[in-house]
Amino acid sequence: MNQNQLKQIELKQNVARAAADYVAAHLSMEGVLGVGTGSTANAFIEALAPLKGRIGAAVASSMATETRLKAIGIPVVDLNSAGDIELYVDGADEITRHLAMIKGGGGALTREKIVAACARTFVCIADETKLVEVLGQFPLPVEVIPMARSYVARQLVKMGGQPVLREGFLTDNGNIILDVRGLSLVDPSAMESQINQIVGVVTNGIFARRGANVLLLGTAHGVKTLTR
Ligand code: 5RP
Repeated sequence: MNQNQLKQIELKQNVARAAADYVAAHLSMEGVLGVGTGSTANAFIEALAPLKGRIGAAVASSMATETRLKAIGIPVVDLNSAGDIELYVDGADEITRHLAMIKGGGGALTREKIVAACARTFVCIADETKLVEVLGQFPLPVEVIPMARSYVARQLVKMGGQPVLREGFLTDNGNIILDVRGLSLVDPSAMESQINQIVGVVTNGIFARRGANVLLLGTAHGVKTLTR
């Protein structure tokens, strides 16, 4: 592992601890916590361990996260019985100062978007390498029903994209992911809606229509807080 990778891990751990402090300060005793997926979310789960008695119920955005939460003794409930999520904490692949994101690098975008939709407050946790002026350097993940793969890929090409099948990967919902480069994301809300109109698309990894409310950003000068 090189110096930059080690530094990024340290920033993720710092932001994960800041997020656990945020939970301790803002989650009510009866509130349900939503927990995201990925390496930053995993660091957050580790930082939650000392708070486990304080968290009555959590909703997981993936099977992997559910396993990790249960392993540290946090009760995981089904979203359908949870109702509203008071607080949702999750990472991102890219995020702007307006708190629009690309997510889904870990392939959990659909469940993440569902939990985000149910959340009163979405706290994004990220290291400073994820902050961008305009979304789109990171290939956009699109979850697709398997039989629609070729059709959806052709539609994405017509929109200016270059879709690539994520080889050997199925989502928790049994679908495939197309990772798409080359789309113009200067208006991320419009592109989010346009891609979701393609028949066979389950959802795409642009989180602009429901962006984050708060960004905890791990930087070399400490954790900074940005809000909308
Ligand atoms: C998973 C996600 C993750 O939040 C995103 O990929 C960031 O991951 P990491 O914290 O490992 O950089 O959207 O579907």
